[in-house]
Amino acid sequence: MGPRHRSNTAILCAVSLAATLGVAACDETPPDRAPATATPAPTSGPTAAAPTTTTPTAIASAVTTGSPSGAAASAAAAPAPAPAPLVAVSEAVLPPLQPLGPVMAPSDNVPSAEAIELGKVLFFDKRLGKDGKFACESCHFVDKGWADGKALSEKGDGKMNTRHTPSMFNVGYQEAWYWDGRAKTLEAQVLAAWKGQLGVGDTLPERVAAVAKVDGYKPLFKAAFGDEEITTERIARALASFLRSLRSADSPFDRYEAGDKKAISESAARGWDVFRGKAACAACHAPPLFTDFNYHNAGIGSDKPAPDKGRGAITQNAKDDGKFKTPSLRSVTTHAPYFHDGSARTLEDAVDFMLGGGKANPNLDSGYKKIELSKAERSDLLAFIRSLEAKQPKFVAPKIP
Ligand code: HEC
Ligand code: HEC
Repeated sequence: MGPRHRSNTAILCAVSLAATLGVAACDETPPDRAPATATPAPTSGPTAAAPTTTTPTAIASAVTTGSPSGAAASAAAAPAPAPAPLVAVSEAVLPPLQPLGPVMAPSDNVPSAEAIELGKVLFFDKRLGKDGKFACESCHFVDKGWADGKALSEKGDGKMNTRHTPSMFNVGYQEAWYWDGRAKTLEAQVLAAWKGQLGVGDTLPERVAAVAKVDGYKPLFKAAFGDEEITTERIARALASFLRSLRSADSPFDRYEAGDKKAISESAARGWDVFRGKAACAACHAPPLFTDFNYHNAGIGSDKPAPDKGRGAITQNAKDDGKFKTPSLRSVTTHAPYFHDGSARTLEDAVDFMLGGGKANPNLDSGYKKIELSKAERSDLLAFIRSLEAKQPKFVAPKIP
C-alpha cells in the first residue's frame, strides 16, 4: 500500500465546526479568489498510515483537525475547540469492510445507528435547501453511485458548479474532502455543502428552523443525540454520520485477493497485473482505496481560458496549480462521467486519457507517462477496474417526516 501523503497546507475553510458557524470563510465555491486569510497549518508530524495498520491514537496524532486562520479566527465568536481525535466506529454500527477496515470518525461525532438513520433522512429532505426545494440527494443519487451523472450540475441557487459531483462511496475513509482537499473534516465539508450546494448561504438559520418545526424530527434527534434539540451542528453531524455509512468494499476483486480465485475473470486477473505493472496506475491509485490521498496535475482543463487552479488555490503554491485529488477507483463504474470537470464521458475515455500520459502543460505530473497497451491488455485493464464494483445492500429511501 502506498504511503499517505498528508500535505500540511492551509485551507480556506475554518475547519472547526463550531468556529465555522456564522463565519463565511468556509465557502463552497472553489477559491479562485486569492485566499488572503490562509496561513500554513501547523505541521502535524509524520504521515498517517492506513486505518487497517494504525491505531486510532496514532492516526489522531497525525491528523490536524485544524484551527481557523487569519480573518476566520478573529471573526469567530468562540475560540476554536481542541481538535477531536479520530476513533474507530464501533463494529456493531458499521462492521469493518475488508480490506478497508473500520471507518474512523472524530471522537465527538462517532456515528450511532440512530445518527446514521437521521442523517439519511436529512440527506433526502428538501427542507434543507433554498426555499425548501433542494436536497443533498438532488445531486448525489443512490442509483448513480451517489453522484449525478452530469458533467457539471446546477446548485440550489441556480448557479452552475465548476466542478463535477463526486461519488459518496467511502468518503469516510478520505483524509481531506473536495477535489482540492480544502475541507479537513467531513463535518466542515457537510456544512459548506449545505450553505453552498443547497444555495442556502446566510439563510441557513431559516432552514434549521424549518427542520426544527417538524414534530416528526424530534424523536429522531432524541434517539441520535439524547434530546430533542435541533441545531445546525447536529444536522451537519448526522449528515456526516450517514456519509460514513456509504461504503464500497468486498468487491469481486477483494474476494479474489482474499483467495477466491474464481471471483473475477482471467481477463480481470491479468488486468490487475497491467494496473500495477506495465500501466503503473497503482502508483497513484494505490490499494486498498485505490488512491494515494494526494493531488496530481494531469492537465485536465489546462487548455481552458481560465484553468481551474485546483490544489494550487488552496496552498497558494503555483507548483500545485492544476492538481486535483486522486479519486478512488472503487465502484468507479457506477458514476460516469469522470474527472474534476466531468470531461470524460465514459470509463474507457477516462482510462485512455490516463494511458495517454495526461495533457501537456507546464505543471504536468511526472507520474503520467504515455503507455502503449495492446488491445487485449487494455481490455484486461478495464475488466480489472470493473471488478472493483461492489454489490450494494438494497437501499431503501427514507420517509421524510
Ligand atoms: C448541486 C449539486 C450538489 C448538491 C445539492 C450537493 N452536492 Fe455534494 N458535491 C457537489 C460537487 C460539485 C462537489 C465537488 C465540489 C468541489 O470539489 O469543489 C461535491 C462534493 C461533496 C463531498 C466531497 C466528496 C469528496 O470525495 O471529497 C461530499 C462529502 C458532499 N459533496 C456531500 C454533500 C452533502 C452532505 C450535501 C447536502 C448538504 C451535498 N453534498 C449537496 C455537488 C452537490
Ligand atoms: C500520477 C498519478 C496518477 C496515475 C499514474 C494515474 N492516475 Fe488516474 N487519476 C489521477 C488523478 C489525480 C485523477 C483526477 C484527475 C482530475 O480530475 O483532474 C485521476 C482520475 C482517474 C479516473 C477517473 C475517476 C473519477 O472518479 O473521476 C480513472 C478511471 C483513472 N484515473 C484511472 C487510471 C488508470 C487506469 C491509470 C493507469 C493507466 C491511472 N488512472 C493512472 C491520478 C493518477
